[in-house]
Amino acid sequence: MRKPLLAGNWKMNCTIAESQELVRQLRDQIGARDDRDVLVAPTYPALALVAKELEGSGYLLAAQDLYWEDSGAYTGEVSGPMIAAAGCSHVIIGHSERRQYFGETEETVSKKTQSALRHGLGPIVCVGETLDQREAGDTLAVIERQVRGGLDGLGSEEIGRLVLAYEPVWAIGTGKVATPEQAEEVHAAIRGLVAKLADDATAEQCRILYGGSVKPDNVDVLMSEPDIDGALVGGASLKAADFARIVAFQS
Ligand code: 13P
Repeated sequence: MRKPLLAGNWKMNCTIAESQELVRQLRDQIGARDDRDVLVAPTYPALALVAKELEGSGYLLAAQDLYWEDSGAYTGEVSGPMIAAAGCSHVIIGHSERRQYFGETEETVSKKTQSALRHGLGPIVCVGETLDQREAGDTLAVIERQVRGGLDGLGSEEIGRLVLAYEPVWAIGTGKVATPEQAEEVHAAIRGLVAKLADDATAEQCRILYGGSVKPDNVDVLMSEPDIDGALVGGASLKAADFARIVAFQS
């Protein structure tokens, strides 16, 4: 009942011309899909052109971040209205790389999420534990703190417009993928938490993506888990054939 969502986070990769080439290859190799949502998240400079290239494809477009103010003297930042005007339907918020390198906190994730919702963007809110936190047995407590922090102050209707992404930090870009059981345990916990923060119906419809070394050869088993509703893909989303195979997962 939840439509799978396969999302490519291109991170800080591809010039405008390279983005155009990649999105053309993706359209060629993926084709039209009604039974699953396909999303790409290029860098800011490429958004408008990629939006144009995606016309008629039905694929979704996301930015990789946003700032919570709408405009003003915030050098270097990009706002929700700008992203929406560039053709985005979604925006990634709180990616672990932003938490790790750019000082993102639960409070900034919350402000960004509220701003995205105000501008009609679907926030893709990322959470995930580090290796130390997992080894200390703190995974579920960390995830709960991040989800509660990011969703602070939101009502059920707003929570219903979110996508959540579980990305264990130790699995990102390392080739070390969470086992389907490890991922499912956290996804089920997140869904339970969404039920508490919103209600059962909202939790049932909320899409929770897994991210962290998703590849053509592990996507099928991950997508077989009941609470894994899609994937947020980094490295493998930059290779059209790999991402096309991930979109074509079979569970
Ligand atoms: P990799 O797929 O490269 O591990 O990256 C995952 C990720 O961070 C997606 O947002």
